[in-house]
Amino acid sequence: MRRLPIHFLGGGNMADALIGGLIAAGHDAGCIAVTEPDAARADALRAQHGVRTQMPGEAIAEAAVVVLAVKPQQAGAALTTTRVPASCLFISIAAGLRCDWLQQQLPDGVRVVRSMPNTPARLGAGVTGLWADASVDDAARAQADYVLGAAGATVWLQDEAQINAVTALSGSGPAYVFALGEAMAEAGEALGLPRDTAETLARHTLIGAGRLLAEDDAAPGTLRERVTSKGGTTAAALDVLHSGDLAGLVARAMAAAEARARALSAPPSSAS
Ligand SMILES: NC(=O)c1ccc[n+]([C@@H]2O[C@H](COP(=O)([O-])OP(=O)(O)OC[C@H]3O[C@@H](n4cnc5c(N)ncnc54)[C@H](OP(=O)(O)O)[C@@H]3O)[C@@H](O)[C@H]2O)c1
Repeated sequence: MRRLPIHFLGGGNMADALIGGLIAAGHDAGCIAVTEPDAARADALRAQHGVRTQMPGEAIAEAAVVVLAVKPQQAGAALTTTRVPASCLFISIAAGLRCDWLQQQLPDGVRVVRSMPNTPARLGAGVTGLWADASVDDAARAQADYVLGAAGATVWLQDEAQINAVTALSGSGPAYVFALGEAMAEAGEALGLPRDTAETLARHTLIGAGRLLAEDDAAPGTLRERVTSKGGTTAAALDVLHSGDLAGLVARAMAAAEARARALSAPPSSAS
């Protein structure tokens, strides 16, 4: 697929991350084009990645895959000014834009994949939830996996509504981890460590624990058990977290995020 013609509608942060990942994985930069209205941004994309750029309204040439990477509120205008070829696979990474709304904006026959990446995509360490209806065959799903796989892991969903749960888990999830790091640094300071020392310790603890998760197939609960000796210091801390209902608190936080994602899922009339 390294010469698959891919066209990005929008050349912002997420497009930049996906393009960087694709090229690092060996994709031919000459097969990537970007529609981007901001001239400075387009210059930067050409200079950094060697991709072709064009302005909104210019025809999309020979794209097998079109990736919608504009802000959700820009999507209506982007799809009105730039015509998407009917033969392409259309992958949206825009939060909250439902498949039925996207299909209404696109020429008949365009196959649509909806996806939700997360910010570690910038480092190729993201995870993306994908959904498509039955009209999208295995070959097209493999193309979507290839494009979003440039940003990290991919997971296919059974139901479009599950995108809201993905948003609550992995979409918003990096912020939960940062909040934990923040709280650990504050608590370290309260225990007598200088602030910067506590921050360094918290940061590297999260990085190290993340790497252990990445390199070991064991479930998080198993890894937790492995580092918790009966009667030890870790057990003392986990007892407090469990008695404060950590799992319940996380469940309530994610339910709030999921409800918000559902509320923000644009009804067709307000998405443009
Ligand atoms: N960042 C994340 O972590 C994340 C995670 C999951 C999903 N997403 C989704 O990814 C999408 C892109 O996010 P982002 O952070 O990359 O946004 P961004 O940096 O603002 O990028 C959007 C780009 O599209 C350009 N644009 C505006 N109108 C356009 C048009 N008519 N045709 C073509 N391009 C146009 C914008 O130019 P101007 O700046 O000149 O308007 C901007 O450069 C969003 O829909 C977001 O929901 C992002």
